[in-house]
Amino acid sequence: MMDFGISYSKKFDGENLSVVLNCGDSIVLPDNTILGNFQSGLYRNTEFKGDKLVIVKIGENLEVSDKVAGMCRSRWTPVYELFPIEQFRNADLYRSSTVKLGDFTFNLWYFGEHLPGSLHKEHDFYETHTQILGRGEMQKFHKEDERTLYERTLLSPGQTHRPFFDSHRSYPCHRYRAISKSILLSIESPYSIPKE
Ligand SMILES: [Fe+2]
Repeated sequence: MMDFGISYSKKFDGENLSVVLNCGDSIVLPDNTILGNFQSGLYRNTEFKGDKLVIVKIGENLEVSDKVAGMCRSRWTPVYELFPIEQFRNADLYRSSTVKLGDFTFNLWYFGEHLPGSLHKEHDFYETHTQILGRGEMQKFHKEDERTLYERTLLSPGQTHRPFFDSHRSYPCHRYRAISKSILLSIESPYSIPKE
């Protein structure tokens, strides 16, 4: 069974396709390209070191299999129990237990196909998201009305979106929306990420 445990590694040397998120200092990869702070990718058959690498082995299937969806539904918490808003009642939406590593808080979310998260604007933290499996998108809105959508950032496994907050930690109205069944990693930070 696939294990989505979140912890820091100091080295990637996997043969299996893995999402690697660099939560530490910039790394020069073996091909001399840079994997910066809070940048991520999908890697196999290469080796590199970092001080804070989050590595999620996913294997060759980039979509959420029925088996993985079943695991998320049985082990994780229905989001309606965490955030009891009507939109989430009976939704195919689950969240893992929270992992804190140093300053950062990590959660994994499972979204059913085509499922939108809630449209929101307020956070008392700086956030970003990394797509682990499936396909989805971050969406920005002019106001709290889905007809005012003005930017879509499509995400596939290994991709982390650019920050949505400004220098005052203000966010536009935004949400995540799954396209296929998705597993998304959220990261919350007490300060702006990525590092300048
Ligand atoms: Fe958000």
